Amino acid sequence: MRLDKFLCETLGVTRKQAARVLKSEAITVNGEVIKSGAVKVSDDAEVEFEGQRLMLSGPRYFMMHKPAGVVCSHEDAFNPTVFVLLEEVNAEKLHIAGRLDADTTGLLLLTDDGQWSHRITSPKHKCDKTYRVWLADPLADDVAAQFEQGVMLRGEKEETLPAKLEKVDECEVLLTIQEGKYHQVKRMFAAVGNRVEALHRESVGPLCLDDSLEPGEYRPLTADEVAMFIK
Ligand code: URA
Repeated sequence: MRLDKFLCETLGVTRKQAARVLKSEAITVNGEVIKSGAVKVSDDAEVEFEGQRLMLSGPRYFMMHKPAGVVCSHEDAFNPTVFVLLEEVNAEKLHIAGRLDADTTGLLLLTDDGQWSHRITSPKHKCDKTYRVWLADPLADDVAAQFEQGVMLRGEKEETLPAKLEKVDECEVLLTIQEGKYHQVKRMFAAVGNRVEALHRESVGPLCLDDSLEPGEYRPLTADEVAMFIK
């Protein structure tokens, strides 16, 4: 890897800023001051900034308690994004494993490991996502059976995959789906003549939202939590 790219990743700076750091003679590679960003850095090279060893970090994994009112994209003209809540170097390199609507709250996973997030988002991997849903109207008796069978959403060519519905109260349910179509939960309830008033994702696969996280807070996943999706 080029030295300037290595500095961007380890120091969280732009290419331009990396060039300035190099010019100030603050960087050594294997004990030698290097001023050129084009120099190639081998995997075992000892790169230091003002005497401090710089190391590339491995893939990163976080869970966030997504609050309402923030959007799951890198940029938005009108609303804050979840990325402004992430106080991490190179936060823009992370992506969301299964986006939530702006008004949906709950468990959001962020990573820079594309293979890992694919296991969560691809319907092929049959990863459950469980939502607590508050409905405008009381749940009709046949909805659980309809969702178990699959329903046709407006604008789609195929029915939804079998989903599990558990009634909590007249207007409150837990819904587990394995897909992540655009506005899927809201459209499923629209398809059976109801309306979602509020939506909260409680779990993804075996991983539940950490209840010590307040809305807007996040934490790194533990190695065991990361491994839950790799088996
Ligand atoms: N389904 C929805 O309709 N919205 C979400 O945010 C997630 C699932």
